[in-house]
Amino acid sequence: MRVLSGIQTTGHLHLGNYLGAIKNWVKMQDTVGAEGGECLYFLADLHAITVHNDPAELRDNTRNMAAALIAAGVDPDRSTLFNQAQVPAHAELAWLLNGTARIGWLNRMTQFKEKSGKNKEGASVGLYVYPVLQAADILIYQSTHVPVGEDQRQHLELTRDIAIKFNQDFGREVFTIPDAYIPKTAARIMSLRDGTAKMSKSDPSDMSRVNLSDDVDMIAQKVRKAKSDADALPDDIAALEGRPEARNLVNIYATLADTTPEAVLAQFAGQGFGQFKPALADLLVSVLGPITTRYNELRTDTAQLDAYLAHGAAKARALAAPTLDAAYDALGLLRAA
Ligand code: TYM
Repeated sequence: MRVLSGIQTTGHLHLGNYLGAIKNWVKMQDTVGAEGGECLYFLADLHAITVHNDPAELRDNTRNMAAALIAAGVDPDRSTLFNQAQVPAHAELAWLLNGTARIGWLNRMTQFKEKSGKNKEGASVGLYVYPVLQAADILIYQSTHVPVGEDQRQHLELTRDIAIKFNQDFGREVFTIPDAYIPKTAARIMSLRDGTAKMSKSDPSDMSRVNLSDDVDMIAQKVRKAKSDADALPDDIAALEGRPEARNLVNIYATLADTTPEAVLAQFAGQGFGQFKPALADLLVSVLGPITTRYNELRTDTAQLDAYLAHGAAKARALAAPTLDAAYDALGLLRAA
């Protein structure tokens, strides 16, 4: 079993990333490690340059994201933690896969449509071929499981399509076909200001998300101001239909408490948000508080963070090399032995 996942180095790690993906990264690190498998987690800095890029900010964000992941429980001694820019095989394989990926497939990608907005002609070419690089990230390591949130499902499907077509076209099993691993309750954590929009780094309102760098007062304020409704919580999950904000807050509580939304409703049925919100704020603070403290300690030691990333990248380069060689060879590209 080989687990791989990545996160972009734009902005802060937020609660959606943590509950939708990183919490599973950390869980899998324990279970997969015990079974002799491997986990690779990386910072998608090559993906970050497909949108507006400030170089100094990118350097800071990359180190901060490494610190945030370690603070959240990714252990650089047990998992391979690195940034893409130090493993050129990702970009090389992406180019090779560009011969296999079809324009029609990329045209269907909803993330490109969302991120490019109205000005498709003005979007970077990188933003358009972004999913091919993502496929390369996954396929270069023969990954079997990819823990991600719901918004990445389509990119995972594309990755599988590219791998299947490449293997078929060139008559060899060069790539393992990976599976997405998407959590049930936290697959799509929504904005605190709008229960129909995804919690996202790019939302202009910081009140829409909880960042792992927020202090206790900020977390409490964001939960207090979170959009909710005037009704009490029901005892049945089906009764949350049509109440997206209530549903989201219950999901957040359940995931943080490692329980189910049904169990949360059993505990809070009949209570309104005046009671539920303080309980949620306390839970958030108790889970995120230690992560934030550790994050603030780690992020100042840039030499140590750089050393972790260099160490992880060396391991990743060695793991990537055989697949890259196999792909060049399958395509008939001559290279000195
Ligand atoms: P990114 O950086 O947007 O998000 C990182 C992870 O967090 C998940 N996530 C969420 N989950 C639940 N609710 C939310 N509101 C929410 N927001 C984000 C994402 O699904 C993701 O798992 N393209 C990827 C990065 C990437 C990648 C890869 C992932 C590049 N190469 C290879 C897996 C494998 C992205 O932009 O994630």
